[in-house]
Amino acid sequence: MTRIPPGGTIGILGGGQLGRLTAVAARQLGYRVRVLDLKSDCSASRVADAVIAAPFDDVDAACWLAARADVVTLEIETIGADAAHAVNQRAPLRPGPALLEMVQDRAVQRAWLRDHGFPQGPWEAAEGVEAIAAAARRLGGPCRVKAARGGYDGRGQTRLLRPEDARLAHAELGGAPAVVERELGLDAELSVMVARRPSGETAVFPVARNWHQNSILDVSHIPCALPDAVEAQARQIAQGIAEACALEGILAVELFWVRGALLVNELAPRPHNTFHATSLACETSQFEQLVRAACDLPLGSTALVRPVALANLLGDLWDDGPPPFERALAIPGVHLYLYDKEPRPQRKVGHLLATGATPEEAMDKVRRARATLARQD
Ligand SMILES: Nc1ncnc2c1ncn2[C@@H]1O[C@H](COP(=O)(O)OP(=O)(O)OP(=O)(O)O)[C@@H](O)[C@H]1O
Ligand SMILES: [Mg+2]
Repeated sequence: MTRIPPGGTIGILGGGQLGRLTAVAARQLGYRVRVLDLKSDCSASRVADAVIAAPFDDVDAACWLAARADVVTLEIETIGADAAHAVNQRAPLRPGPALLEMVQDRAVQRAWLRDHGFPQGPWEAAEGVEAIAAAARRLGGPCRVKAARGGYDGRGQTRLLRPEDARLAHAELGGAPAVVERELGLDAELSVMVARRPSGETAVFPVARNWHQNSILDVSHIPCALPDAVEAQARQIAQGIAEACALEGILAVELFWVRGALLVNELAPRPHNTFHATSLACETSQFEQLVRAACDLPLGSTALVRPVALANLLGDLWDDGPPPFERALAIPGVHLYLYDKEPRPQRKVGHLLATGATPEEAMDKVRRARATLARQD
């Protein structure tokens, strides 16, 4: 029996904003929620029935969670392999340990994408100064050197303008094994989310278009408003990946659009920052879809309801106190999501969503709304 009907208990590894919003969706569907996170007062703690505070490689804590859940899912990929296996022996971990191991290492992930015929930009795995320099020489031009394990929001990666600077890049990454990628001239950044339940049903969301600032997602909108053929190809890639890895849960595929070609940047088998807009843009949010997929319930419709744009709120907006949210909320069609996180510079602590008749209108509105929050001296 793979189905966990409403009324059951869902365990979530990770209690950040993605875990919190998954917990809200789970509660709406009538589930109990237990969370494992580094901190007992994590973002999800306010909406979970119980939190166990432990590192993500703590096997005993993972077992505690799994013993008290009917199914376990996650909002962060950096779960220790032993902990993931231990969970999976007590309650189904969806997505499973094999997929987790694949995505945890950029080199393994890129090799998997290559072996399964999915398109990506030129890259090489490299360990040590000499290997990084040699890879950069072969790839040609400026490169991105990324730690194979553990990076996010641009942390754990650096630009390499010339192979001779490999020593610096190597030191910056703390000597960790790396992936060297050719730096591509991006015409657009896209992402596409797919859900797949254990019984095999899949559903793909409309494609999002994304813009970053300092390697952190800044704004995004759904739908992507690019030609239909691009949207269709992106969805096909996501569907293909979900089937090839026998996904159980949801998976975001980050894509680069470069001179008419779609290239996979990276995979994230969990809710994704660029799909917050689904809460208003689609019949079913990414969070509800994760609950349905993990519990092997019928997947929800991913049909577009209306265009929606997202703007992230970083801790920098907090000064002596919170910014004047009432100004943003006075704009019709603007909605605020706060994560109950301590505001720190460059830390995501909330987001705004704005609806619009077109993606461009939604985007204008969400930018205008966020601008009202900035300090006006
Ligand atoms: N090879 C590349 N060429 C051009 N730009 C790149 C390349 N790799 C990364 N970038 C830029 O840096 C951003 C972050 O890169 P990436 O997604 O690989 O790292 P990350 O730290 O895992 O980010 P996140 O956790 O936010 O997804 C990309 O969205 C893109 O804007
Ligand atoms: Mg990324």
